[in-house]
Amino acid sequence: MANLLEIRGLYKRFDGSEVLSDINLNIKEGEVLVVVGPSGCGKSTLLRCINGLEEIQEGEIVFEGKKIDGKNTKWNLVRQKIGMVFQSYDLFPHMNIIDNVTLSPTKVQGVRKEEAVKNALTLLKRVGLDEKRDAYPRQLSGGQKQRVAIVRALCMNPKIMLFDEVTASLDPEVVREVLDCLLELAKEGMTMIIVTHEMAFAKAVADRVIFMDAGRIVEENDPKIFFNNPQSERAKRFLSRFDFNITQGD
Ligand SMILES: Nc1ncnc2c1ncn2[C@@H]1O[C@H](COP(=O)(O)OP(=O)(O)O)[C@@H](O)[C@H]1O
Ligand SMILES: [Mg+2]
Repeated sequence: MANLLEIRGLYKRFDGSEVLSDINLNIKEGEVLVVVGPSGCGKSTLLRCINGLEEIQEGEIVFEGKKIDGKNTKWNLVRQKIGMVFQSYDLFPHMNIIDNVTLSPTKVQGVRKEEAVKNALTLLKRVGLDEKRDAYPRQLSGGQKQRVAIVRALCMNPKIMLFDEVTASLDPEVVREVLDCLLELAKEGMTMIIVTHEMAFAKAVADRVIFMDAGRIVEENDPKIFFNNPQSERAKRFLSRFDFNITQGD
């Protein structure tokens, strides 16, 4: 199958300092790619480049067979197909849940309100939040808000979803419900790039793992191999700080 997304020789610099170096990456439709690596290694910047939130200095990004790194890229169209969810959910506090998640489909994509609501309710139901349709963000827990943020991205009917440490700011007891949501999406065949520090989850969800350090992809591997017997010394050192193998077994 053709690649949905291809990154070739990508370099990203901020004021001359190199943050991403020679990134090469392919992702096929339906694949789940997990990106791990120490803080500051460039994971968020990589996702932001894919979504056009950062300009790149060298290389190319090809999405659905078209280069999207050019000045002529219609980012407002591309971003509808590349959903992104961050650590902070950024829901509009003055809008209820259903209005939050139907805003973009109606305003950006011109979907009729009734249809957007119907679609949104189906998605909210899947994450167990359809009964919160009229609630305001402040009435929801962090885990619930993050699940709404995921639904909001899904309401645009994206081709690929990018998740940047979506559980990092959540209380431990609600992390599971958000990760389950991502596992469910993976099962349904959504193409995803997931940046996470939840190693047991990464091992369970990934088709492929990428380990980054200092702006480079140091190792790309099958999750079974990566988490049991990483090939690079740097990945070994990084993984030794997590106890996922002890707590999760195989
Ligand atoms: N807007 C920016 N200007 C300058 N440097 C930045 C900017 N954004 C990120 N960086 C730097 O790029 C590097 C990678 O950051 P980031 O992609 O956030 O790493 P990660 O997500 O892996 O923790 C860090 O050294 C960070 O300080
Ligand atoms: Mg980050």
